[in-house]
Amino acid sequence: MKLNIAVLAGDGIGPEVTQQSIKALKAIALTFDHEFVFRSAPVGAIAIDKTGSPLPDETLALCKASDAILFGSIGDPKYDNDPSAPVRPEQGLLKLRKELGLFANIRPVKAYDTLLDKSPLKVENIKGTDISIYRELTGGIYFGEKKQNKEGTEASDLCLYTREEIERITHLAFKAALGRKKKVTLVDKANVLESSRLWRKVVTEIGTEYPDVELDFLFVDNAAMQLILNPKQFDVILTGNMFGDIISDEASVIGGSIGLLASASIGGDIGLFEPIHGSFPQGAGKGIANPIASILSAGMLLEHFGLHEEASLITDAVEKALELDITTPDLNPGNVNITTDRVGDFIEDYLLNPDDSNLNFTNIHLGQSTII
Ligand code: IPM
Ligand code: MN
Repeated sequence: MKLNIAVLAGDGIGPEVTQQSIKALKAIALTFDHEFVFRSAPVGAIAIDKTGSPLPDETLALCKASDAILFGSIGDPKYDNDPSAPVRPEQGLLKLRKELGLFANIRPVKAYDTLLDKSPLKVENIKGTDISIYRELTGGIYFGEKKQNKEGTEASDLCLYTREEIERITHLAFKAALGRKKKVTLVDKANVLESSRLWRKVVTEIGTEYPDVELDFLFVDNAAMQLILNPKQFDVILTGNMFGDIISDEASVIGGSIGLLASASIGGDIGLFEPIHGSFPQGAGKGIANPIASILSAGMLLEHFGLHEEASLITDAVEKALELDITTPDLNPGNVNITTDRVGDFIEDYLLNPDDSNLNFTNIHLGQSTII
């Protein structure tokens, strides 16, 4: 298969983690005889520095001319504490999502058996957790009208949802549940918000079209607690833009590190694949960023194009790295020698030699073989 992939590595640790997923995709292309063409363009703070815009026209044009986008991360501290900044890196990503109609953001959350002890949560509570969060991505409070009065003493953000916006992601969530444990949990705040009451009404109606799928509801405050107390109760979580943003960061604690959580944003003709973590500017250039979320996002890209065998090889490679403790300091604080690049090299090697059964596997693949 030939795929044109736009690479928007962005700010902070974005470029270094994205480099590892490109290595993984190139290895897959070689092993399975695909042609993946990568073209890079600036986005976020780095694009503001270069062009004044967080999403330059050329970057958007490249994305529109591609089959998929591999996205790194955006954000820079110089904007975070400046509420009056006229342009912000995040606007680049938000505009891209809107322009490309990426209304569904899928965020898988898994407790890997090999990492159970890395989570601050109790092993018996999290073992076996496997959740797919369906976060609405182009509506709600993120995109509603924003206002501030002249005096700067009053501001508001409108949380607006239309029936159609709710319907289209709800169908995707129910379809996903059919291939999983057949349960959808709608997370909302219907005891307070009118927009949430519309979500409940529409999701309940659509639920009748999927009689094999159990539907339940949780208020977001309770859901935040249940996610930590008993995450195994969840299968597909369906929710709006803001609640999805918050609970997915929270859910990353189950897996042991936010550096493991991948995502796919779909809905339009072109999908965007990105780790859920931010730009972690303090970690940039130090080789400590975990590339696994980006690599798993590349796996979701492959899955999106129906390349199932290729996608599952990526998952195998990641699981092997986790099993052998070939991980960055977020998961493996003692071992500072295992850098972002090293993890990427190991995964690349595994993808090129998946049948390697050498007992000295770990050492060889880390370039520390004692066998000469
Ligand atoms: C995410 C990020 C973005 C969001 C930011 C960078 C705009 O936090 O993808 O979760 O809030 O959606
Ligand atoms: Mn977020």
